[in-house]
Amino acid sequence: MRAGGLVDLTGRSCLVTGAASGIGRATAALFARLGARVTAADLDTGGLTALRRDCADRGDAYEVTVVTGDVSRPEDAERMTGAAVAAGGGLDVLVANAGILPLSDLLETSAEDWDRVMAVDGRGMFLSCKYAIAQMARQEGGGTVVCVSSISGVAGQARQAAYGPAKFVASGLTKHLAVEWAGRRVRVNAVAPGTIRTERVRRLADEPGGPEYLDRVTGLHPLGRLGEPEEVARAIAFLASDAASFITGAVVPVDGGYLAQ
Ligand SMILES: NC(=O)c1ccc[n+]([C@@H]2O[C@H](COP(=O)([O-])OP(=O)(O)OC[C@H]3O[C@@H](n4cnc5c(N)ncnc54)[C@H](O)[C@@H]3O)[C@@H](O)[C@H]2O)c1
Repeated sequence: MRAGGLVDLTGRSCLVTGAASGIGRATAALFARLGARVTAADLDTGGLTALRRDCADRGDAYEVTVVTGDVSRPEDAERMTGAAVAAGGGLDVLVANAGILPLSDLLETSAEDWDRVMAVDGRGMFLSCKYAIAQMARQEGGGTVVCVSSISGVAGQARQAAYGPAKFVASGLTKHLAVEWAGRRVRVNAVAPGTIRTERVRRLADEPGGPEYLDRVTGLHPLGRLGEPEEVARAIAFLASDAASFITGAVVPVDGGYLAQ
């Protein structure tokens, strides 16, 4: 046990996609604090550099490795896994988190909008899993994947005509890959966050319909507030660690009770 008595990821080689902000950043920072060798991937080089600097300033055991790339491009997704393997001598953990969160109803959503969100949240998660699991299956100890799904990947919401179905891809991929790869010692789980106060969600306050959406959605969380990125990161760390050794194929709500209703 380390870092506040949470779980131990000492020396584990962990790849986190979408690590420059929000849930991914909180997860990469927590993993580094828990002693992991973190490889952080994102489109946003500046955000990755800031993460690496913050972890170094804090005195974490290993320098964070950063990779700029687009998870929806096979060559980039493969390069992210390759960078983690080079930095950590293998790949123990993938957190497939990178995603975009467009909110629109069915009539407002174009075919191009659908393709864009499916390319990142669907195809990008598939590609991240594909290259990471190929590596893990070659390792004696296997590995573990945590996909970042959503309450929208478990239940319906208005104004999520493309984003919601894309998050169902994350939940479905988790269950199918968990069954397919269990025999090769690869565990695959997901978290289903409720609405979390990330940079993206804070920006909604300035978008048309955003403030109304935020008010309504806050009221739908029985705990009466939105979640914090660190609260999701702690659940991801648990699922990624040996403490969750008999859990695979689970989609774990981190949602203040949203899905319990
Ligand atoms: N914030 C929420 O309320 C919430 C709720 C449920 C699920 N989620 C999920 O959590 C994940 C992270 O969301 P967030 O709220 O932290 O968002 P965010 O916008 O704060 O962070 C997402 C990160 O992903 C990166 N990214 C986007 N497209 C990429 C691509 N093609 N390749 C590589 N990186 C890319 C962005 O640059 C950004 O740094 C997403 O999968 C999202 O669906 C978020």
